[in-house]
Amino acid sequence: MNKISVEKNVKEKSKIISFYNNKTYHIVTYGCQMNVHESEKIRGILNSLEMNETDDIHSADVVVFNTCCIREGAEDRAYNNILLLKNDKKKNKDKVIVVCGCMSQQKNGKYDLSKSKIVDIVIGTHNINALGEYLLRFAINRDKIYDILDKPIASMDSSACVRDDKVNAYVNIIYGCDKFCTYCIVPYVRGREMSRPSQEIYAEVKDLVQNQGYKYITLLGQNVNSYGKDLSEQMSFAELLEYLCTIEGDFKIKFMTSHPVDFDDDLIRVMKQQIKLAKTLHLPVQSGSDTILKRMNRHYNIKHYLKIIKKLKRAIPNIALSTDIIVGFPGETDKDFMQTLKLIKKIKYDQIFAFMYSKRTGTPASTFDDQIDEDIKTSRLNKLLRQQKIIQKENIKKYFKKTYDCLIKFINGVAVGITDGGKEIYIPNYRYTNQNYFISVKVEDIRNHKLSGVIK
Ligand code: 5AD
Ligand code: SF4
Repeated sequence: MNKISVEKNVKEKSKIISFYNNKTYHIVTYGCQMNVHESEKIRGILNSLEMNETDDIHSADVVVFNTCCIREGAEDRAYNNILLLKNDKKKNKDKVIVVCGCMSQQKNGKYDLSKSKIVDIVIGTHNINALGEYLLRFAINRDKIYDILDKPIASMDSSACVRDDKVNAYVNIIYGCDKFCTYCIVPYVRGREMSRPSQEIYAEVKDLVQNQGYKYITLLGQNVNSYGKDLSEQMSFAELLEYLCTIEGDFKIKFMTSHPVDFDDDLIRVMKQQIKLAKTLHLPVQSGSDTILKRMNRHYNIKHYLKIIKKLKRAIPNIALSTDIIVGFPGETDKDFMQTLKLIKKIKYDQIFAFMYSKRTGTPASTFDDQIDEDIKTSRLNKLLRQQKIIQKENIKKYFKKTYDCLIKFINGVAVGITDGGKEIYIPNYRYTNQNYFISVKVEDIRNHKLSGVIK
């Protein structure tokens, strides 16, 4: 059974069910939203085998580690947690441990999972959909499985998906990445860009909104702006958004992640025009220095990036902005780093995600000979985070007297409006009966860094 068929063979499925039904499983997820969503698909597969989810990793009959390898720390965490199951394996010989995702897909990674005595099944990013078949194979012959494929075996449809959240649903629109930033392992472990046909996405979003009551749909892709370039149908990302906004219902769409190179005026126009598009954007800049951006192979400079931000702020004054920043990329001087500090002071992001550069085997930057010392990276990261903390404290002032379209929630018995950017506005005098609907809230007061307001 070397070649796994993804088509659901009914006979085979009933065999799997009789092996696994009523057993328990536990999923451990590392990494980005893409992985979180893939774990929802894994849950769907395991539920369809009539297994039950448990919070207790130690008693679970099947444990799945859905891994990440974007930085060394993510790999270390996963590997150390796998090792912690050694005793459980000794106590329960039938316990099955599965490792899947980016860390297993990686060639020449830090840990060789093919040699691990604890792990029973190792699959990568391209065959997660066939996890059910791999479990059957393991139940029959109990031989360790190590199967890493170069290409996906089938499209990652979401039919079996069982989601974590009841308000925000993740929906994949494009897999893989063709950008090859010099620090990044993603293109090597996730493969080339592959867009999902727009009608398939439309049908999924429509079902989530109209039949399952989701309020936010977050479209996922390593680089959503590349959407459609590989499809025969003529559809850009901006056009896809317009198409999805024709779905009737009280919901909003977010998307991540965007790349500044492909972020065009048409997209800004659509973001401004469509009320169903959440007024928030995650636009990774990575560095404030043109020299570093060039060495990162990012294909834009700060002037271009600032131009996009300026246009966005002009078109959507209330937009909430966030970004990713890497400090200590090879060759980053104090001057380069100062430019990053200068940039975040200028843009005043609502949130930043900052990381110390981590060397990834197989990426061009890992061979650069001007690597930065760990203590310099740590000190730069701390400086950056301190600076951002000050900015965020200052940013709160910009909410005063402004009106935001918010999702209403109850927090400790009080009605709270959540902005598209995730900011909470308390509405103390609101006589509510319901939650999870959108309504305009005007900020009237700021006290102790907390916002409060009234329904408009
Ligand atoms: N080291 C540190 N951070 C990285 N990222 C990607 N690769 C690396 C690396 N080798 C960061 C980038 C990216 C985010 C998801 O992770 O900022 O946008
Ligand atoms: Fe990695 Fe760059 Fe692709 Fe983002 S765009 S996934 S940072 S290679």
